[in-house]
Amino acid sequence: MNVLRHILVFLMFGFFCTAFADEPLYTVVDGNKVDAETLKGFKAWRAAACDRCHGANQQGLVGPSLIERLKILTKDEFVKTVTEGRLEKGMPSFKTSKMVMSNIDQLYAYLKGRSDGAITKSKVEPMQ
Ligand code: HEC
Repeated sequence: MNVLRHILVFLMFGFFCTAFADEPLYTVVDGNKVDAETLKGFKAWRAAACDRCHGANQQGLVGPSLIERLKILTKDEFVKTVTEGRLEKGMPSFKTSKMVMSNIDQLYAYLKGRSDGAITKSKVEPMQ
């Protein structure tokens, strides 16, 4: 009996660990106050001047609307496109941008928050 109880406790422990490890991609309050990681994503967006082609509000300009496209693209497709670019189509490669490459998860989180409609203003501030 004791062994069974140990197994049960072990399984429950595993379950709780998995449940709590599942952190949200981003946290936002009041539409534009975000967690520190998501803020880094916004800073990378600014530094790389993605807005030059995708628009100040990600609405699309010469490049497509990332609000719309991030509803469809997988994270892997996003990372691959930003890393390698689509040179023949006008999307540059950011492989050599340390700012973008070291904040790619954060950049994805920020853009996903915009695309989900949870981050309601493109300009975000730190959450207090
Ligand atoms: C010089 C203009 C330009 C800049 C700067 C630029 N992009 Fe793009 N981007 C494009 C164009 C044009 C496309 C469309 C490529 C195509 O037709 O497949 C694109 C496509 C994309 C896609 C794929 C969309 C899809 O529908 O598959 C993503 C994601 C993306 N850009 C993100 C970014 C991010 C993030 C940055 C900044 C780090 C950035 N882009 C900077 C022009 C640009």
